[in-house]
Amino acid sequence: AKNPVRVLVTGAAGQIGYALVPMIARGAMLGPDQPVILHMLDIEPAAEALNGVKMELIDAAFPLLKGVVATTDVAEACKDVNIAVMVGGFPRKEGMERKDVMSKNVSIYKAQASALEKHAAPDCKVLVVANPANTNALILKEFAPSIPEKNITCLTRLDHNRALGQISERLDVHVSDVKNVIIWGNHSSTQYPDVNHATVTTSSGEKSVREIVTDDNWLNSEFITTVQQRGAAIIKARKLSSALSAASSACDHIRDWVLGTPKGTWVSMGVYSDGSYGIQEGLIYSFPVTCEKGEWSIVQGLKIDEFSRAKMDATAKELAEEKSLAYSCLN
Ligand code: NAI
Repeated sequence: AKNPVRVLVTGAAGQIGYALVPMIARGAMLGPDQPVILHMLDIEPAAEALNGVKMELIDAAFPLLKGVVATTDVAEACKDVNIAVMVGGFPRKEGMERKDVMSKNVSIYKAQASALEKHAAPDCKVLVVANPANTNALILKEFAPSIPEKNITCLTRLDHNRALGQISERLDVHVSDVKNVIIWGNHSSTQYPDVNHATVTTSSGEKSVREIVTDDNWLNSEFITTVQQRGAAIIKARKLSSALSAASSACDHIRDWVLGTPKGTWVSMGVYSDGSYGIQEGLIYSFPVTCEKGEWSIVQGLKIDEFSRAKMDATAKELAEEKSLAYSCLN
């Protein structure tokens, strides 16, 4: 039998945490034959609720779940973890300035970076979900210099999956027949969902989405804004932000990273830019990636037209601004 993998979920008493931990315990993240030990962190005001989640995990009697650590102590939470899913953060409340929210999250991610660096397994893979996800991941990277930068990523897979979902609904095909959309840039409304390289498997073979969806106008405007605004649409409908889809996408992100992407398929991940596609180094930017043997690589050589270029640069610009705002919060 395989040794258990230790998976940290921060903010585990929250909405996404509640959807995510049972998925991990059922093998949706690391596979149906991989035992796991869950480490759950939250803050003191949520300690009792966190313990309630632990009780439910015990009650669910998951065969793969070999242990549960539920704690408000960051060092204990990070001890020897192999995977860290960072969902905890400070939410934007009505009337709060952007700078104040950034400042709270910068201090949380600075502290948690140090704890991971000190206590996590040296090859720990990190996924930041909490917003501002790209910039929180960047701060985490800056303050955990001994963790390889390739191991620090942020979640844009939810946006990627939303884009697949919109194409599938439009064409009335199954979502698993659609692939290779791309989310470029920030996990925010400036993200650029790109269908120029996406394909659909049909009874007469693989076709490009541009070829099948003849309404360019829809692809170039409504499709893009629907994906960009989907988070807000969920809040409007549910009076709560996306949780089950975020949790499921976080599992997809880690699963593909660890176990590999299927041949001929790429996914979107927020990763440290190496300058690919003219995106400045030093930003955590969402790119198309393939994964093999636990490592992602950015898909190279895709043709970028003028329309895409402008949108990719606009979201990079926003990230550069977020970065300077975050740095101005460091003291
Ligand atoms: P929530 O408010 O229900 O849960 C957040 C939890 O984090 C709370 O239990 C809170 O006590 C905890 N927390 C706060 N500070 C903490 C700290 N320093 N250490 C550990 N835990 C801490 O929020 P929800 O709905 O679960 O969302 C979590 C985050 O994920 C939010 O920032 C949200 O904006 C983000 N998000 C990101 C998505 C993405 O695609 N990247 C999609 C959906 C949400």
